[in-house]
Amino acid sequence: MIDYWNKRFKLEEKIWGNNSSKSSQNALEIFHHKKIKSILIPGSGYGRNSKIFSQKGYNVIGIEISVFACKLAKKFDPLTIFINASILNIPLIEGEFDAIYCFNVLHLLLEDDRIIFLKNCYNLLNSNGLAYFTVFSDMESNFRKGKKVENNTFENKPGRPAHYFSEKDLLSHFKDFSVLKMGIINEPEDHGGKAHIHKLRYTLVEKN
Ligand SMILES: C[S@@+](CC[C@H](N)C(=O)[O-])C[C@H]1O[C@@H](n2cnc3c(N)ncnc32)[C@H](O)[C@@H]1O
Repeated sequence: MIDYWNKRFKLEEKIWGNNSSKSSQNALEIFHHKKIKSILIPGSGYGRNSKIFSQKGYNVIGIEISVFACKLAKKFDPLTIFINASILNIPLIEGEFDAIYCFNVLHLLLEDDRIIFLKNCYNLLNSNGLAYFTVFSDMESNFRKGKKVENNTFENKPGRPAHYFSEKDLLSHFKDFSVLKMGIINEPEDHGGKAHIHKLRYTLVEKN
């Protein structure tokens, strides 16, 4: 996993461009309404989805495994603190965050690691903390393409397995939280030579 991402960021740099995702704009509105102050961004990449929050004055910390992405991020989004670490072992204090925004990272993990990661997220949120996640859905065109690695998990790019979530599956991953919202969001992207639209599942949850 780390080799895959280091290689991609080294070669392609700002892979998804400078603009933040559509879902981060939704999350920003919700976080503003709920008077959030501190936000954790796990798998923060080069900062395209942290800058939208840091620019608005939120205290933002990104956790990112790729050293190349962290270097790009520090330039692209100087207001966020980026920590070069794994989301499976986050070196931060429990209960430190009002909110988490996590774009397209959970589906990159295998089952055991998804459970560890979500437990870490739960512990890092303060009571009634919010989390907004997006993941690949089972409506994606790449679902069931490539080598099967686990249930509903396929290696459609060498070295990068991806898990495709049904609604039921996503609900069961967030069983320790209260689910406030869940749905499909169409996320346009333009990289690798062609524009395409991802059919992502998003969920807004609250720590119980
Ligand atoms: C699909 S990219 C999304 C990047 C970013 N969330 C964005 O919206 O631009 C997945 C990101 O998760 C990072 N990542 C993957 N596994 C990780 C891990 N175990 N710990 C921390 N970051 C990880 C990758 O390096 C990459 O930056």
